[in-house]
Amino acid sequence: MTKKTDPAGLKLRLAAAQRLKSVLGGDHFAPLSAHDMPDGRDRALANRLVTTALRRQGQINAMIAELLEKGLPPRSGSFEAVLRLSLAQLVFLPDLGAHSALFLAVEAIRRDPKARHLTGLMNAVLRKAQSNSARYGLMDESLLLPAEVAQAWQDQYGADAIAAFEQALISGAPLDLTLRDNDPDLIEALGATPLIADSVRLESRDRPVEALPGYDAGRFWVQDAASALPARLLNLSKGAEVLDLCAAPGGKTAQLLKAGYVVTALDADAARLERLRANMDRLGYQPTVIEADAATFGPTKPFDGVLLDAPCSATGTFRRHPEVLWQRSARGIAERVRLQQALLANAYRCLAPGGTLIYAVCSLEPDEGEHMAEWALGALPELALMPIVADELPGLEAAITPAGTLRCHPGLAPHGIDGGMDGFFVARFQRTR
Ligand SMILES: C[S@@+](CC[C@H](N)C(=O)[O-])C[C@H]1O[C@@H](n2cnc3c(N)ncnc32)[C@H](O)[C@@H]1O
Repeated sequence: MTKKTDPAGLKLRLAAAQRLKSVLGGDHFAPLSAHDMPDGRDRALANRLVTTALRRQGQINAMIAELLEKGLPPRSGSFEAVLRLSLAQLVFLPDLGAHSALFLAVEAIRRDPKARHLTGLMNAVLRKAQSNSARYGLMDESLLLPAEVAQAWQDQYGADAIAAFEQALISGAPLDLTLRDNDPDLIEALGATPLIADSVRLESRDRPVEALPGYDAGRFWVQDAASALPARLLNLSKGAEVLDLCAAPGGKTAQLLKAGYVVTALDADAARLERLRANMDRLGYQPTVIEADAATFGPTKPFDGVLLDAPCSATGTFRRHPEVLWQRSARGIAERVRLQQALLANAYRCLAPGGTLIYAVCSLEPDEGEHMAEWALGALPELALMPIVADELPGLEAAITPAGTLRCHPGLAPHGIDGGMDGFFVARFQRTR
């Protein structure tokens, strides 16, 4: 008897469905790694399917509402994840062919004891979707952002920015690097465009980061152009003692070391600190590393500068993490705000009189950004805003608010270069006494 083998492409579809199912269940999205799927082509395809299903989630929700009159069958294992992957393929990835979307979806749920009774439904739904795929491909892009998110952000950012966010969600984020040394030969070898200061943007993402020239020699690190702004705004003298609260995995720590400060990098998460140590080793930097709670840490001596890159809803990273749009909740934001207040209050306690405090979040929520800066000025007695000025951000003046804080988002980029940037808020304060 010959052993029955699985059809080609099934394994990667099962892995993609598993990853999508966990994100739909509330997990953070991380692309499948070489450890999860050693074959590079399979891995790229599986990640393309999952990211397309996540980016297009709002439109796929509308398709599912139309295709399944009674809604998704309850307790049906991987049915929903497999259906979403197949709809993403049929409608938005036509180069992959319709046949495999239908055939492999049925094969995938046949192997799931909780879903195998639904093969007939899967087949019927996908056939109906196939006959509507041209119409679905033109589906309203205003469905891309959840309605309550679009409403909240419309008031804050305006209609043009919302349209830019929708396009940014579809296209994803370019790859930005921060250079350890601004060597024109390296920039050319990387095929990169200078953005602002030592941030560059890669024109092509066809090579893994580890294969880029200069990676092994630690000549750059991956960091979105927006994420590289807060550390630059600290603006202290070389040799200043700086505390990087919430430091891991260390993008900003590396910038502080590059600026010549004596850096203490603190984080509460041991695994993330391991990544910080590995990153610093590759770059040849040596911060003091402390595992502690940033809300209660008490230094023996106050610092000249504190950078607080606080944990937040991370809605500004939706180009890489589309799931944050769907996982966002008023309750979650309120919880973060309480944590941010505790962290800010302790950041202030760690600061010497005359010292500088940078508060940053990769969030598009005013409650975690603009309102938090107002809260700090009211609650922390000897804190004054040190306005950020246009000269500090050539090419990105549009990101400076009338109050002198910084607000960037995916509809903006230095010098108007294509590709936008993550949503970030930054405020700079001085402890007056
Ligand atoms: C936005 S990330 C920091 C990114 C980092 N600054 C960088 O540029 O690479 C937030 C970090 O806060 C850490 N964190 C969350 N709560 C914390 C706490 N109470 N004390 C210390 N670190 C905390 C998380 O482990 C996470 O690494």
